[in-house]
Amino acid sequence: KRVLVRCDFNVPLDSNGNILDDFRIRKTLPTIEYLIRNNAKIILMSHLGNPEGKVVDILKLNKVQEKLSKLLGITVKKAEDCIGTEVKELVSNLKSGEVLLLENLRFHKEETDNDSEFAKELSFLADIYINDAFDVDHRNHASLTGVPKFLPHGAGFLLKKEITILDKIMKNPEKPMIAIIGGKKLETKTKVINKISKVADFIIISGLIKKEAIEKKIEFDFTEKI
Ligand code: 3PG
Repeated sequence: KRVLVRCDFNVPLDSNGNILDDFRIRKTLPTIEYLIRNNAKIILMSHLGNPEGKVVDILKLNKVQEKLSKLLGITVKKAEDCIGTEVKELVSNLKSGEVLLLENLRFHKEETDNDSEFAKELSFLADIYINDAFDVDHRNHASLTGVPKFLPHGAGFLLKKEITILDKIMKNPEKPMIAIIGGKKLETKTKVINKISKVADFIIISGLIKKEAIEKKIEFDFTEKI
């Protein structure tokens, strides 16, 4: 079968577009390797950065393709776009066990607009849709909530693992619990932080979100726990 996998390859880059940390790529390997072992025709898709519907050279997925090829020990093919004639042709020539990486989804504004026609175009490429992109699942975008409307769908191993761990933490936490939360883009994390504060005994906020919280004087529900 042709399996379309939504990954989150939104990796940090230096000013030349080199990958600074391949953690997110490595974490998706179990799903991709499983599909290779089971002779699927594998089509991977992801966003990288926020090009806002335009082609931005530094945000092309070529470095991700190189890294994936190295990690998987096979040549991962790459399309110059994520929809269109070239992509269709590459998919129809794909052999069992081969991997094709589509170009940055956000080069099309339709991705973040959750355009239904765009989602349909993506869905035509495959028989099954798998979501293995936990880090971006809070977004209502075409490749995340649109495509599964048109294809049989399921969760990848990484998504399953993230949900299993979070579920355990929220429903049956080991005490005492210290939550350490870092990263950037506080606006997408405030709700999560407040929710985790219901079960955590202490919360350590670090990295760029700490800086942002201080600068914007963000109030949390649990100030005494910081
Ligand atoms: C992330 O890095 O937080 C995810 O990939 C989501 O990216 P986004 O905030 O650009 O949607």
